Amino acid sequence: MAISKKDRELLSLYQRSGSDLFLEETPQNRQSPSASSRITKRKHKRIASQQPVKSESYTERSASRIMADNSDNFQELCEAIKKFDGCEIKEAAINTVIYDGQVDAKIMVVGEAPGANEDEQGIPFCGQSGKLLDNIFKTIGLSRKENLFITNTVFWRPPGNRRPTPEEIDACRPFLEKMIFLLQPKLIIIVGSTAIESLLRIKSVSMNSLRTQNHLYSNCYLGSNTTEATAIFHPAYLLRQPAQKKAMWFDILKISKMIRPFISY
Ligand code: URA
Repeated sequence: MAISKKDRELLSLYQRSGSDLFLEETPQNRQSPSASSRITKRKHKRIASQQPVKSESYTERSASRIMADNSDNFQELCEAIKKFDGCEIKEAAINTVIYDGQVDAKIMVVGEAPGANEDEQGIPFCGQSGKLLDNIFKTIGLSRKENLFITNTVFWRPPGNRRPTPEEIDACRPFLEKMIFLLQPKLIIIVGSTAIESLLRIKSVSMNSLRTQNHLYSNCYLGSNTTEATAIFHPAYLLRQPAQKKAMWFDILKISKMIRPFISY
């Protein structure tokens, strides 16, 4: 469908004014003084950064690598992520969203990026798609309270919930790589195509073929060591395409077999 010039101008105006705020899942009292000051703050930040940065400079990207290299434990890594200023989406975000769940979990779940709820609460996958993901994992005895560690490919909400750009993914990748090295999960569950792009560096391959294969993940910190990885559909996609829940059921049964050697109930 062609978009007229007038519509495009209107959309651009909505984008510049951060009006995606009105599309949040939970209604909020916009009349309260605290809400209005928060909205004003977010609007200004959004205006400053609503366009994705086309290319980050080499120095900015290498800054995250240096900071990840210099983090000797998980605590230091989290501090480094919070301090890192080389990813433009941080400017519009309320919180740095690093992880939820158990640091000693044998299973690491990697999603795309924080959304509006996650940005507000500072917790990954705490909105509608997170609830679906929790319910899916519950069917095979997995939960963030007991045996899952959950994170994302980027640690800040991209404005308007757009996909993170390759530059934003590159800027955050060293932290994710070091996290995997420090936490040593036995299985990485890759949630959706953006996480596949970040971890496996595979682009434009159908999700259907990737989710039915198993992968061996490695990175510069792991050296020749590899970690088993498997991909599943993103829960936000399942909310849009409920018929695909059948495929998810198939994948979750496969995962239940993969985790048998190291998960006891
Ligand atoms: N979608 C994601 O990929 N990650 C989140 O944390 C929330 C929604």
